[in-house]
Amino acid sequence: MNNRFDGKVVLITGAGSGLGQATALQIAKEGAKLSLVDLNSASLEETKSKVMEVSPKAEVILITADVSDEKAVENYVNETVAKLGKIDSFFNNAGIEGKQNLTEDYGIDEFQKVVAINLNGVFYGMKYVLKVMKEQGFGSIVNTASVGGIRGVGNQSGYAASKHGVVGLTKNSGIEYGQYGISIKAIAPGAIMTPMVEGSLKQMDPDNWEEVGKQFVEPNPMKRFGKPEEVGYLVAFLLSDQANFINATVIPIDGGQSYKY
Ligand SMILES: NC(=O)c1ccc[n+]([C@@H]2O[C@H](COP(=O)([O-])OP(=O)(O)OC[C@H]3O[C@@H](n4cnc5c(N)ncnc54)[C@H](O)[C@@H]3O)[C@@H](O)[C@H]2O)c1
Repeated sequence: MNNRFDGKVVLITGAGSGLGQATALQIAKEGAKLSLVDLNSASLEETKSKVMEVSPKAEVILITADVSDEKAVENYVNETVAKLGKIDSFFNNAGIEGKQNLTEDYGIDEFQKVVAINLNGVFYGMKYVLKVMKEQGFGSIVNTASVGGIRGVGNQSGYAASKHGVVGLTKNSGIEYGQYGISIKAIAPGAIMTPMVEGSLKQMDPDNWEEVGKQFVEPNPMKRFGKPEEVGYLVAFLLSDQANFINATVIPIDGGQSYKY
């Protein structure tokens, strides 16, 4: 078994569910101390108990915070350093999809909310974590973008704007911080079966969402949804020292769908 995170401190936002939880489990198995952040404290407790099952000696702190609140972000970064001593790796992942609608019908409040969480939240996270990493002289960051951050998907004005913004932030900061030994990358997941995607399918057809899901993945070259643990394996690699030279770039994990004509 790999132990790429022995003695390392890994900070994860959106750790209560889906991709954040799957990544926490993978990284805990490899020896990390974890600082887990989410808006939902009950879901954080659930992730912690799953972590303790796979890694009974793991050191884990839980921080309930809203990533769209700059002060709360500054606090989760400070609390992580105060309690665990440093931040080796940061999975800057919390996000929401928002309601689906044509651009002309897309709600102004909805747009602002999605951007506040998905884009401002990622920027605040990088702003405070990079200060710590620059002083340390090492670190790795993975920001969660989306296929909706590299392609047009439709009906997702807020999501598309925010995720394209995450890709832009990743390229910009990766160029700035490579000289300090810090690598920054984004992932662009396609449809991965998490509570977010289940919610999205239910928006399309509440009574028949599983059937809608089957049709949804039909154009995918692999004809299936991705699994959260598949993203966990990728993020663990990208956050590890093995991936230090991968910087300022975006990596799709989507069964090949975003390259299909
Ligand atoms: N599942 C997919 O198919 C998919 C595809 C592309 C990108 N993504 C992105 O992956 C990330 C994780 O999504 P997921 O599928 O695991 O969703 P999820 O809903 O299962 O998990 C997201 C977590 O983020 C938390 N969260 C939401 N708003 C928050 C806030 N303001 N502050 C702190 N925490 C907050 C939620 O409580 C939840 O625990 C998101 O950024 C999402 O946009 C997901």
